[in-house]
Amino acid sequence: MNNATKKLLLMKKRKKKISSITAYDASFARVAEQANIDFILVGDSLGMVIQGCDNTHKVTVEEMVYHIKCVEKGVKNTPIMADLPRVALKNKKTAYSSVKKILKAGASIIKIEYQDKSFGLIEYLLKKKITVCCHLGLKPQFIKSSRDIKVHGKTNKSAKEIIAQADLLNDAGVSMILLECVDSKVAKFISKKVDIPVIGIGSGQHTDGQISVLYDLIGISKKIPSFAKNYLKNKNSVYSALKNYNQDVKK
Ligand code: KIV
Repeated sequence: MNNATKKLLLMKKRKKKISSITAYDASFARVAEQANIDFILVGDSLGMVIQGCDNTHKVTVEEMVYHIKCVEKGVKNTPIMADLPRVALKNKKTAYSSVKKILKAGASIIKIEYQDKSFGLIEYLLKKKITVCCHLGLKPQFIKSSRDIKVHGKTNKSAKEIIAQADLLNDAGVSMILLECVDSKVAKFISKKVDIPVIGIGSGQHTDGQISVLYDLIGISKKIPSFAKNYLKNKNSVYSALKNYNQDVKK
């Protein structure tokens, strides 16, 4: 846990909702900071929304570093979380050297799309004092077919699996959990059960905070998920759209 995640933890304890969006460049990051967004994610969704690929699978560490550096130039004190891209998960050594590059570029929280087999890696990074957020539920890095794009935790078995993962990671010492497309009752249960902040996307209203892909929120992504709301509609600037999004999350 570092200063950024300590502040988010305090927000959870005080029942203040946490807001987050993705950004990939200095200008949008600056506007997000002006709109008082609590933290920015440089997501590997950049593979889709910036590079126009069909998925996030081929985003490189160097590309992540480039966009983190851009975002870092746009903000004064908004914490930056960044994805560890799929290509960096080959082994612990590659993962750790990639994490170091990402932190050096300006991120302070590393997000990892979690699979049970990566628990050893998480423990290893925690031992190295890395601040980690684990991404559960729908994990874009591991989507094989459109059948994987669904709400997770709807069956008893799947709900138990996600809850067990969240418990394990909370006990291991990760600083935050992100739930993507998780059944809202399961997301609510996890948010109450674990001590650390739980941030949701497409997982209902009861998580400790919400995160959105910026380009979904301003209506320009190629494939906009059904749960995403267009905050630019009837607004005359990206700033007012983000301010409105922030207010909605806080409510
Ligand atoms: O890469 C990304 O933008 C993400 C969000 C979907 C949370 O992981």
